[in-house]
Amino acid sequence: MTLAQKADDMTDKETYMDRNLALELARVTEAAALAASKQVGRGDKVEADQVAVDAMRDALNSLHIQGRIVIGEGERDEAPMLYIGEEVGDGKGPRIDIALDPLEGTDITAAGGPNALAVVAMTDEGGFLNAPDTYMDKIAIGPGIDPNILDLDAPIADVLAKLAKEKGGNIDDLTVCILDRPRHADLIQAVREAGARINLIGDGDVSAVIATTDPDTGIDLYVGNGGAPEGVLAAAALQCTGGAMLGRLVFHTDVERERADRWGITDLNKIYTTDDLAKPDNVMFAATGVTDGSMLRGVRRYPGGAKTSTIVMRSKSGTVRRIEATHNLRRKTWLKSI
Ligand code: FBP
Repeated sequence: MTLAQKADDMTDKETYMDRNLALELARVTEAAALAASKQVGRGDKVEADQVAVDAMRDALNSLHIQGRIVIGEGERDEAPMLYIGEEVGDGKGPRIDIALDPLEGTDITAAGGPNALAVVAMTDEGGFLNAPDTYMDKIAIGPGIDPNILDLDAPIADVLAKLAKEKGGNIDDLTVCILDRPRHADLIQAVREAGARINLIGDGDVSAVIATTDPDTGIDLYVGNGGAPEGVLAAAALQCTGGAMLGRLVFHTDVERERADRWGITDLNKIYTTDDLAKPDNVMFAATGVTDGSMLRGVRRYPGGAKTSTIVMRSKSGTVRRIEATHNLRRKTWLKSI
């Protein structure tokens, strides 16, 4: 009996998910990262994204799931593949909702900069917020800190004072990670005036949020305005590692508001907690480094092969696995694009 037939036999779909699916996710992000790695520094972010999308889609379709993309490459009319609502997998097995970003950091990859990732998260049907492709105000901390200190509207100095107290130090012990954007000028100034240090990043706020959960990164707080889909992916990771975030959708156009309406979002000012963005019960998350970053090493390619670094986590167990894989690309036939 094949593994897939065994899975069909199981009445408890969670058993199947627990045993197999989380590890399968590593293959999915490895495939996208390997494909994208061929485009590092080539100056073409569209092509880099496309090859990652193609590879991730092939890998997802090899899974024994009835998968539905809820956070994807965009609406169907603008994203020919991995669009929101697309069904992936072999159409059997458990019903799974999927949030993905085949290449988080398209500009980074095109420029050969740090912290580009291939990311995917899965959960039971209905477990992720159907976030429209718009912006989101975000604030996030790592585990072991009272989530009630988070506030999207309070002066950042107040939040920093509470965070410093929680950590048993002073504000000048803290480092805040912020996307380097003109829209954050006031925020950056306020953080500096409060006395904290800042790690300004060019792109990639999924890994920036996750960085708050790892003391080795030195990041204590992530704050700022980035992509809403990335907010759901980051929340999925926090459900596995611990930590907390708040998010509020930010709309600039009527088209964005209409999209929100289509996904059933009526309160446009709602502040979402980690649990609202990704329900805690059964989340799986995987990311593979495309370029070197705070969390993962990038793909190392050499003639005939490549090495990848992947993190895989599950909310149920809280286990965080790191998978260092060596790929013999001469033998890989199932994914042409890598
Ligand atoms: P892409 O991979 O889609 O380029 O996103 C990179 C990113 O930096 C995200 O991590 C972040 O949430 C978003 O872009 C910020 O948007 P913008 O670049 O428009 O400020």
